[in-house]
Amino acid sequence: MRILGIETSCDETAAAVVEDGTKVLSNVIASQIDLHAKTGGVVPEVAAREHIVKILPVVEEALKDASCTWDKIDAIAAVNEPGLVSALLTGFVTAKTLAEVKSKPLIPINHVYAHIYGNWCDREASDFEFPILILTVSGGHNEIILMKDHDDFEVVGESRDDAAGEAFDKVAKILGLGYPGGPAIQKSAEKGNNLAFALPIANVDGLDFSFSGLKTAVLYEIQREYGANFDPTKIDQKFVQDMAASFQKTVVETLVEKLAKAADKYGPKQIHLAGGVSANLLLREEAKKRLGPIKFPTNIRYCTDNAAMVAAYGFHKM
Ligand code: KG4
Ligand code: ZN
Repeated sequence: MRILGIETSCDETAAAVVEDGTKVLSNVIASQIDLHAKTGGVVPEVAAREHIVKILPVVEEALKDASCTWDKIDAIAAVNEPGLVSALLTGFVTAKTLAEVKSKPLIPINHVYAHIYGNWCDREASDFEFPILILTVSGGHNEIILMKDHDDFEVVGESRDDAAGEAFDKVAKILGLGYPGGPAIQKSAEKGNNLAFALPIANVDGLDFSFSGLKTAVLYEIQREYGANFDPTKIDQKFVQDMAASFQKTVVETLVEKLAKAADKYGPKQIHLAGGVSANLLLREEAKKRLGPIKFPTNIRYCTDNAAMVAAYGFHKM
């Protein structure tokens, strides 16, 4: 069965064709990173307008890359929640219209759960055993999810404020590292001393997270050194690298600690990392050290927003 996936929840216009929930035949992503770099973050209306321009060419390219015509598509899966409302609307209304015109079933998809299926892309269904515990973290969401079967999810922990990816993006912005922040912080941290700054780990009960205090702690450290009205472009490089390394270490420690706690509680057969932040190399390394063999997407393109994960999930909903 072949599913066409469509994703427009934030700043990527994406379409993909996936066969039987794992075999990615095409995965087209039109990124708006350059557009949003100017504003240091996503402006929803700007994102939505760009999705309108890109969505049909991206869908056509996904079909072409998959050497697939409309008669070979069994259904259309498109994200309808959660995300930037105007951006979601563009993709979902396009999907609805295509479903009507081409007489295909339409499958509404939840973006957070779709990220979980990033791990299925380019793997075999036999590689998986339930229950699976997933840490799924991106710019917009931050959860620990217990997956008992396909389309059977229980959120067992989540952020009470910011997602870790959002903290990466905001801290990168105040350090003058640009957007998106995750890859920029990871790169800068390579040369930094991760013990240079003692940053706080929020004391949150159970399996929940909180990252807004960490972001503020970074801001206070910079202000202490450079004054309340500091200029991010004037911060010393060594300071930036040390702060990036200390911040990254603190976020990773927090995430891995809660994931380990959840693993003890639920005793899953497998542990997965998913979402944009699962691209982070330190997170992968520390999770492996603490929890043994874990899975993360086979390609970074399946960590950050994409439509292959949407089509993979759509197959199981179908
Ligand atoms: O899944 P995604 O593309 O979008 C949302 O659903 O939000 O995730 C994007 C997030 C951004 O916050 C970005 O900074 C973060 O993932 N990210 C990373 C890395 N690559 C992307 N965070 C840490 N380390 C990375 N290497
Ligand atoms: Zn996402």
